[in-house]
Order: sequence, then C-alpha cells, then structure tokens
Amino acid sequence: MNIEEVLVPDTGNDGEMDVIEVAVSIGDVIEKEQTLIVLESDKATMEIPSSVAGKLVSLKLKSGDRAKSGDVIAEVEVTASEATNEVQQEKAKTETPVIEPIKTAQPENAAKQPPVLEQKNETIEHSQAPELNTAVVHAGPAVRKFAREHAVDLSRVRASGPRARILQEDVTQYIKSQIQRAQNGQIIGAGFSHGAVALPDFKQFGEISAQTMTKVHLKTAENMQRSCQIPQVTQFDEADITALEEFRKKQKNVAEQKGIKLTPMAFLLKACAYALKALPQFNVSLDLANQHIIQKHYVHIAFAVDTPYGLFVPVIRDVDKKGIWEIAGECQDLAARARDKKLLPAEMQGACFTISSLGAIGGTSFTPIVNSPEVAILGVSKAQIKPVYNAQGEWQPKLMLPLSLTYDHRAVNGADGARFTSLLGNVLSDLRELLL
Ligand code: COA
Repeated sequence: MNIEEVLVPDTGNDGEMDVIEVAVSIGDVIEKEQTLIVLESDKATMEIPSSVAGKLVSLKLKSGDRAKSGDVIAEVEVTASEATNEVQQEKAKTETPVIEPIKTAQPENAAKQPPVLEQKNETIEHSQAPELNTAVVHAGPAVRKFAREHAVDLSRVRASGPRARILQEDVTQYIKSQIQRAQNGQIIGAGFSHGAVALPDFKQFGEISAQTMTKVHLKTAENMQRSCQIPQVTQFDEADITALEEFRKKQKNVAEQKGIKLTPMAFLLKACAYALKALPQFNVSLDLANQHIIQKHYVHIAFAVDTPYGLFVPVIRDVDKKGIWEIAGECQDLAARARDKKLLPAEMQGACFTISSLGAIGGTSFTPIVNSPEVAILGVSKAQIKPVYNAQGEWQPKLMLPLSLTYDHRAVNGADGARFTSLLGNVLSDLRELLL
C-alpha cells in the first residue's frame, strides 16, 4: 500500500486562504487532476487538483479552514499504475506546478461575502421543488463566481458538464427557470429576500411556539412587501354621511325583502367608481419597463374581506354601470364566498382600485398600502357623530366617515389626491351628485 500526501501547491499567494469547499470525501476513488478543494483569497478563487490518482484515505482540511502553500490536503492510497517510487515522489513534491490564481476580477467585498443561499427565504411547493444536488458540487471558479454574483446556490443546479460538472449555462438555465416560476406565482415567499432579518433565539426570553404560515398569509405578506417599495402618500379626509345613513336605514325593509344587507360599502363602491371616472389618473397602472401609463376604460373595484384564513380581495366588475342593490348583492355574495374559501381566482383579478373598510371594527384612520399594480386604495374607518360648525359658527351633530386615500405618488400628484377625497366627500354627503 502506497500512501501519498497531496499538498497545497504554490498558489502565488503568500498568505493563508479560505477553504470554501471540499470537493471529495474519504473513501472516494479519485483521478489525477480531479478537484480536491477550492481555495479563496480576497482576489481569486482556485480549484486545487489532486497530483495523484487513487483512493482518498484521509482529509486534512475541511470547509472553513485556512490553508497555505505546502499544507497537506489529503492522503491518497495511490493505485499501482500511479504509484511512484521515492525519487519520483520527491520530484513530484519539488516540481508541484505553480497554480496561477484565476483572475476573477471580483469586487473587493464580493469575494468576502458568503454566497447568498437562495433557498433561505424561499418556500417552494414541495411537488415542484427542484431536486437537491446533495452530492459534492463540481464547478469551476468562473462558474462559482457567476453563481455567487447571482445569489445562486449551486447545490440546486443540475449539472450538464462531464463528470457532473456545473457549467455556466446550467446556472443561467436555473436562473431563468426560477424567474419563470416566480412570475407564474409558483414560488411563494420568494420576494422576502429584502425583508428577512436574522432572528434571535426567542427561547432565551421565554416559551415560544411556531406555526407554519398559510399560502394566503405568505402571498399577502409578499404583496405587501412589494407594494411598500412604491412611493406612496396617504390623504386623510372626512365625509358627512348623515343623510346617506338616514337614506340607508329607510331602505332596511326593502333590503330585507330582497335578502340583501345594505351597508355603507355599496355606496362607497359607487362613489369611488364615480370619482375614478371623474379623475381617470387614478384608474391607471404604470408600465415602467415600457415607460407607459396604462389607462383603464373600465371600472372594476376590489374590496378587502377579513376571513379566518387571511385577507381576500374580491373584485366587483363594472361598478360604474351597476345600481346600488346589484352592487350590495354582489358584495355580500363575494364576501360570503371569501369566508367559505369559495372564491374563484378570476374573481380576485382585474381590479383598478381597492377599498379596505375597517368601519365595522373601529379606529379613526389608518394608512392602507397600495395594491400594486393599482395606483390607489381607499381606507375607511368607523363613522362617528361629531359637532360640525357652519359659517355662522353654529354646530350640528353630523355622522362623519373617516377616509384615508393612499396613492402611488409616481402616478398621482398630491393635489389630485385631495381632489379625489373631496369629490368622494361631496358624493357621499349628497348622493344626488351621482345623478349628474
Ligand atoms: N362606520 C360605522 N359603521 C359601519 C361602517 C363604518 N365605516 N361600515 C360598516 N358599518 C356597519 C354596517 O353598517 C353594519 O351595521 P348594520 O348592521 O347596523 O348596518 C356593521 O358595521 C357590519 O358591517 P359588515 O357586515 O362588516 O359589512 P360591510 O359591508 O361594512 O363590510 C366587509 C363588509 C367584507 C368589507 C367587512 O366585513 C370586512 O371584512 N372588513 C375588513 C376589511 C379588512 O380587513 N381590511 C383591512 C385590509 S389590510
């Protein structure tokens, strides 16, 4: 049995380098020139090949260690044909080739950063999770650099090169497939890369338990995070709905006969449709990639429904063309089906604008978040009776409805934000406006 030590050759680097990967395991039958370890300095990454062929009997370095030229990497039981006599061994040791660091031209800090594992914050539907390449990853320094720059975990990439080597086109293909899956909504939670923070071990502070987030919860959180990147402003206002409430209450019997619950929501939907037609700059989406403002000539409005399973946002189509009873009926039906988890995906698509009403629950005002690619959302809080003074300084009790309009400031300017809530206030305080 002939055991030979394989050393870190002269790398042209004076100091120690990080062992960022060990590409073999004890017991492996390795070939000459097969990569044993990958070293990384501030400037370059280099694969260190074996100078002999045979069976790996020990490994002296592990990932995370630091190594310099001359350090022992491994011991190999060389195969008979490869066995060298002492003279040859000495010769091999003294003539170990100088390995030129590969000029990777990495930015100073890029080499120092650990590779970002894409898997960290990603929830993948199990049936579609790419098969993990649990074996050792074989890839050249250029491919590793490319993967690191694109935050790709190489253990997830299918290798198409010889001896299961990962090629750059494999990484490119992987990136493309991930983008495709994210666009198709197949990767839920993929958008959390910016929002994730390192958590402390909460157990040190007291008892805890963890619950898996539902898909609805994850999707809502992801949408919220994406929407928060929009520069948005909230305009607050109040609408006098004293007359509206009197009118609504008078309709109670008719509503019962129709089997419809008439709440302020139907009037809000109708008033918003009116405002969207009067101020069409709120009925757009921004196509920044093509530098287009997409004007919508239909008025579909979504409304948020709170359910035990999370937030659902069904859409009422062509609100501008429908009467109050029809809107109220649809609203009731969609909210009930949202709570029974019976909404169809199509019933939650195509909105131009959203209303989020917390009026039945409470609160004086809040700042809703724009539901992108829409450019505005109306938050509604609890109506309260307040003293409202007229020009003569006399006051009257009025039922005031708090409105919070958040808009995408890239699409809508502040003056139009104030115009929108003023117009809503006018319409809601005197429904006859709708007839004009
Ligand atoms: N001020 C005072 N009372 C109000 C009100 C307001 N702004 N809005 C509704 N109410 C009253 C209604 O008139 C009704 O009272 P009534 O039976 O005496 O007529 C009562 O509150 C309950 O109304 P509700 O059944 O909730 O109907 P709705 O049409 O107002 O709301 C939903 C329907 C689906 C919007 C509502 O149930 C819901 O889920 N809201 C939560 C939305 C949410 O979570 N938004 C946050 C998103 S981040």
